[in-house]
Amino acid sequence: VTVTQADPYDVLAPYYREYAGKRAIYLAAVDEFVREQMPASATSLLDVGSGDGVRAMALARSCGIDTIVLSEASREMVERCRALRPSEVWPTAAQQLPEHGSRFDAITCLWNVLGHVPTRADRVAALRRMRALLSCGGRLFLDVQNRHNAAAYGWMRVMARAVLDRVAPDERRGDATFTWHVGGVDVRGHGHLFTPAEIARLLREAGLAAVRRVAIDYASGVRSESPFRGQLAFVCKAAD
Ligand SMILES: C[S@@+](CC[C@H](N)C(=O)[O-])C[C@H]1O[C@@H](n2cnc3c(N)ncnc32)[C@H](O)[C@@H]1O
Repeated sequence: VTVTQADPYDVLAPYYREYAGKRAIYLAAVDEFVREQMPASATSLLDVGSGDGVRAMALARSCGIDTIVLSEASREMVERCRALRPSEVWPTAAQQLPEHGSRFDAITCLWNVLGHVPTRADRVAALRRMRALLSCGGRLFLDVQNRHNAAAYGWMRVMARAVLDRVAPDERRGDATFTWHVGGVDVRGHGHLFTPAEIARLLREAGLAAVRRVAIDYASGVRSESPFRGQLAFVCKAAD
């Protein structure tokens, strides 16, 4: 049975723990990177695209952060976030985050949430809004799927992609559809994979500056400085 509906994450929600478990090594490696780079003085965290909220709650608490706001676009995921009793839950898409109000010492947007934001204009809007919600000295932590991840997608294929992307750039090549097999049904969804240069452009347009970029291997969690050796994880600040 194939389920096609507006929000595939509503369908995935009951199986989300199991689904995340399959990527536990990668997710733990990203969490470790976030913990290492978290400002010691951070007391508040906004998580954008929280899924069921379990990960962000654990991450924030392990950093000693008490004020935790979870935000999510999927109704079913929002219900799961509320059950965890964070400081607040914002039932909103990243591109519609409030532009004013509370500010946060840390904003996390983890596991390619940005790749689920529908269009390029929406992605820039989402990043701009996150920037506007950073406190002075605050940090944004972001990881995205990397089209140039040769370790995951194969060196030959990625070298060909990298050459094509250089001579005839077209960000639409990063648009992808996928099918999850969960709970006896096939759930169709779509998302976007990024190149390192594309993310650099998006950050610049949103008024953000990367203070650190690493690649994290999707299977082993090993960290690398080479953008070909994993998904891309960033620590960003508001550009001057
Ligand atoms: C792969 S999950 C990651 C969840 C969580 N960040 C984690 O690391 O476990 C992607 C999440 O992004 C959410 N999402 C999809 N589109 C969104 C949007 N436009 N704004 C905010 N969240 C969105 C989905 O509902 C889903 O919960």
